[in-house]
Amino acid sequence: MQHENIIVETQGKVGVIRLNRPKALNALNDQLMDELGSALLSFDADENIGCIVITGSEKAFAAGADISAMAGYSYMDVYKGQYITRNWETIRQVRKPVIAAVSGYALGGGCELAMMCDFIIAADTAKFGQPEVKLGTMPGAGGTQRLPRAVSKAKAMDMCLTARIMDAEEAERAGLVSRIVPADKLIDEAISAANTIASMSLPVVMMIKDSINRAYESALADGVQYERRLFHSTFATEDQKEGMNAFLEKRLPNFRHL
Ligand code: CAA
Repeated sequence: MQHENIIVETQGKVGVIRLNRPKALNALNDQLMDELGSALLSFDADENIGCIVITGSEKAFAAGADISAMAGYSYMDVYKGQYITRNWETIRQVRKPVIAAVSGYALGGGCELAMMCDFIIAADTAKFGQPEVKLGTMPGAGGTQRLPRAVSKAKAMDMCLTARIMDAEEAERAGLVSRIVPADKLIDEAISAANTIASMSLPVVMMIKDSINRAYESALADGVQYERRLFHSTFATEDQKEGMNAFLEKRLPNFRHL
């Protein structure tokens, strides 16, 4: 697929997708989301890629769904799934880890997209919010569901009901982001984290992602049982033998992703 709204590149074993609609602060229209979905699935299928980074510009990760595109939609336009959010969940099909590297605004759908990633690395300039209430609508891509799980019910209610924006420090304190880095180091730090992940055993990395995501979908006992079975299955991999033997032989492991 030809890309007009994103820039796709690889850096070693890391696939990097940069949202690129600078004039609209990377507002997420259907075309951009189609391109993003297609780039994500192709990196997921690419055996040379071990981790994916999604980022935006210095000013905006993404300022939300595209208001000018959706302002005139009818109920039937959106309900029938032709427009907005129809292609938003593609990212959940991706089995390799996806990191959001967020600088500037991550508002509305931009915040929701960041939360669909496996973790968020924030620049010290990052700003998170769900301001849809100001537009007479509400989050529609998981904001009312993922935000309370990430930052507590109290903060999610505050943000979604008052449209208050959370800065990077508060986002880190609240658990929304995994770390904060200086804005000019954001992409390097994100790619470095992604490279670290890509140097591990890919099947084991995929099992860890799967298992942590299960924590959000199941009761504790079921989740622990699920984790136990995945843990057992790592013993069927060559990489577990390699990892443990390398430790015992005091050398670095050479994972073959088998
Ligand atoms: N959709 C479409 N265009 C957008 C946009 C959006 N979400 N956000 C910004 N833009 C456009 C602006 O219209 C403006 O375009 P023009 O130059 O053609 O006028 C350009 O980007 C630059 O924006 P501003 O001039 O507003 O820049 P600023 O620095 O003064 O303000 C901002 C930045 C605070 C992010 C402000 O742009 C803003 O509030 N944007 C809207 C944020 C928002 O409400 N997001 C939620 C969208 S709804 C949603 O996402 C639904 C869902 O859950 C799926």
